Parts: sequence; C-alpha cells; structure tokens
Amino acid sequence: MIEIPHIVAHRGASIEAPENTIAAFRVAGARQAKWIECDVTLSADNKCILIHDDTLDRTTNGTGPAYKQPLDTLRDLDAGAWFSDIYKGERIPTLSDTLETLFFMDMGVNLEIKPSGCDPIRLCQEVAAELAHAKAVPILLSSFDDIAVAEIRRLLPDMPCGWLLETLPDDWRDGYAKLGASALHIDHKALDREKAGEIVAANVPLVCYTVNDPDRARELFDWGVTSVITDDPARLIAAIPRH
Ligand code: G3P
Ligand code: CA
Repeated sequence: MIEIPHIVAHRGASIEAPENTIAAFRVAGARQAKWIECDVTLSADNKCILIHDDTLDRTTNGTGPAYKQPLDTLRDLDAGAWFSDIYKGERIPTLSDTLETLFFMDMGVNLEIKPSGCDPIRLCQEVAAELAHAKAVPILLSSFDDIAVAEIRRLLPDMPCGWLLETLPDDWRDGYAKLGASALHIDHKALDREKAGEIVAANVPLVCYTVNDPDRARELFDWGVTSVITDDPARLIAAIPRH
C-alpha cells in the first residue's frame, strides 16, 4: 500500500492561493506539504483539466459548465484573479502540467476523479492514458462516483484508489470490498470514535476531509485516522509536524 502522508493540501494550499492551480500546489510545497489533493475532469475535447466546480463561474472569469468548453478556451481563462490580484493570470492547469510540477517538487497527489457532467468512463480512460506516460509521482486516486472507482480499478488495477464518501453506510464493508478500493475517504464530520475505530480495526487506510482545525486533526489522529486533507497545510503541519 502506498504511504499517505498525515497531512494533504486540499486543492493545494487553498487557504493561501487559488484552489486547483499550479500556484496553490507550489505554496503547498513551500509549506512542507508532501502531497496535494486536486480535482480532475474533462474539457469538451476530452483533455484532463483541474477544476472543482461543475461550472467555471466561481473560480474563473468564464461562465457555464467547464466540460462544454475546449481546452484552448479554458486555458485562456483567468483562474487566479477571483482569489487575489497577486494571482491574476493563473491558469486552469492540465493534469499533465500538474504531474510535471509535482515531479519536480518531489510531491505526491490524491487525484480526485470528478466527472462534473462529463462521462465518468471516458474520464477514467483519459486519466489512465495520462498516467501511463506521466513521470513517477506517488498517486492515490479517489472518487465519489462508484462507476469511476470501478472503472479505474479495471483500467489501473495496480494503482490505489480510495472510495470517497460523505457519510458512512452501515454496509460500508460490502461496498468497499465490491469496489476493490484501497482506502476510505470520508467527511470528518461523519466520523466519531466508534465509526473510526471500526474502519481502523478492519485495516482500511482512513483519510478525512476537510480538516482545518489542529485540535480536530489531533482527535482524528488519536482515533487512528491515517491522513487529513486540509485547506491550511501550513497551520496543521506547524501544529502537528509528524504523526
Ligand atoms: O477528496 C476530498 C475532498 O476534496 C472531497 O470534497 O468537494 O472538496 O472535492 P470536495
Ligand atoms: Ca476534491
């Protein structure tokens, strides 16, 4: 099993820089984060791009669904000015740009496969094709989309893939085994000591999002959580340098 660091920077250091941009990944590295989390989807011409929302409106100067625009159009958009003038001119990154940057920064990634309106199977195929040619970067895939988790397991059986959940179903063991997942990623608000204990006792790596409070992160680590995903890696790493 891949070693997941105890703190992962959510969409990069997204409290300090515009989420899902190369700038946010560089800031995360500068704050000593070993890994980032980011969201990958497809453009209209089936290129792998990073953006969280279904639409361009919140994090760029574009409008409407991202998956309806070709890469050339998306690359002309500003993905930084909404956050701060300092980041004006920052672009929506491709997956390929991102992996290249992480390789040179010696960082790993939790790559969330987020179909956001595009076909999940096609997205998995394009991600798998990119990863086949990518430089060697530690990668943990994950998705809320069960079709995507199953397809990525089929295409990339040797690559770890986490099952992303908002809440823990009673029959989580069956779903986890059926999908062949290799970690469970869950909203920390859905966890208590008992539920975390169940998962940890089953030897399932447990990743929690999105944890910005160091006291809460300490509590989760006490319960046996493997890793927390945070917008504020500088704060969490300073408070909990290692686990
Ligand atoms: O991967 C954990 C977390 O990023 C999932 O939620 O909405 O921030 O993509 P979201
Ligand atoms: Ca995400």
